[in-house]
Amino acid sequence: MQIETPIKTVAILGAGLIGCSWAAMFAASGRRIHLYDSHTDAGAKFAEFWEAVKDTLGEIGLKKTTTAPEWLVFNSAADAVAGADFVQECIPERLGAKRQLYAEIEPALQPGTVVATSSSGLKLSDLQSGWLDPRNLIIAHPFNPPHIIPLVELYGNDATMPEALSIARTLYESSGKKTITLKREIMGHVANRLQAALWREAIHLVAEDVVSVRDVDTAISAGPGMRWAVMGPHMLLNLGGGPAGIRAYCEQFRESYALWWEDLGKPELTQETIGKLIDGLKEEIGSRDYDALRKERDAKLVALLSAINKVDAGHSEIAAA
Ligand SMILES: NC(=O)c1ccc[n+]([C@@H]2O[C@H](COP(=O)([O-])OP(=O)(O)OC[C@H]3O[C@@H](n4cnc5c(N)ncnc54)[C@H](O)[C@@H]3O)[C@@H](O)[C@H]2O)c1
Repeated sequence: MQIETPIKTVAILGAGLIGCSWAAMFAASGRRIHLYDSHTDAGAKFAEFWEAVKDTLGEIGLKKTTTAPEWLVFNSAADAVAGADFVQECIPERLGAKRQLYAEIEPALQPGTVVATSSSGLKLSDLQSGWLDPRNLIIAHPFNPPHIIPLVELYGNDATMPEALSIARTLYESSGKKTITLKREIMGHVANRLQAALWREAIHLVAEDVVSVRDVDTAISAGPGMRWAVMGPHMLLNLGGGPAGIRAYCEQFRESYALWWEDLGKPELTQETIGKLIDGLKEEIGSRDYDALRKERDAKLVALLSAINKVDAGHSEIAAA
């Protein structure tokens, strides 16, 4: 489906892990990129990143990957945003630094330009303080790597213009993303809280010597993780209840879950526990280096995403017939 959006130029503030990934995704979907980073090597970093991921972006259906991306590097954040229709802020997760950057850019923004922060867990209400007019500041939290993973979590509060969220939603969805919208502010948004809940128990199982790091990882990636890539937990457990659905599932397993929830661990990331995770990972990683692991992750994600998109397209054709 082609979704139209008037946004032609996106300013990316902070060209690190997340900023380069967003920039590549927006460039591959035909937008001009204005890049600003406090380090002067931002242009070289993005150029290298683009070369590494452009084929992947083509494989997931973004069209502008065969021509060179249109991008400019700026020496100041204000100059980068001045000619942009949308701003994706990706500087480190420090409240003071983000507030300072917003104070620098606010006078330079064109009226109505949405500023979306990638923040993983800072509160919008805290990020809004210091703005003269915070109506167009929203949370738009991606999941790493944003150029591949579809999810973007959106949040705006009472001070936010509803249009800001709908402009952002349209922009992301026009680039193949899937958005969710939080109804109220909560620390860590949704997906990171879910990830934190699962990781907490994974660490507990390793710390308590129930299972190795390698086996706990396999327990997710070869088990529920595969199912979660295609349907969420409620839909899956609805199927787990048979034709009678989630009610039957709840009735059958209510007591088991009550006992399991009661028994879940509350580990702490002590030096001993971190050491155990590092040692366990050494065994799991073997001879693969960072680059090899990243490529393996991306190749598998792209294969999974392509397969899911193909099935979804088949279902839409059946529904339309
Ligand atoms: N790393 C993740 O998995 C992840 C996932 C989702 C969201 N996020 C969020 O994305 C944001 C960026 O995280 P990251 O992992 O890309 O960090 P990073 O450290 O990789 O990149 C940050 C970049 O910002 C630059 N920078 C620092 N201060 C700046 C300033 N004042 N102005 C301009 N540039 C500045 C740095 O030079 C660096 O290139 C954070 O808010 C983080 O919470 C991170």
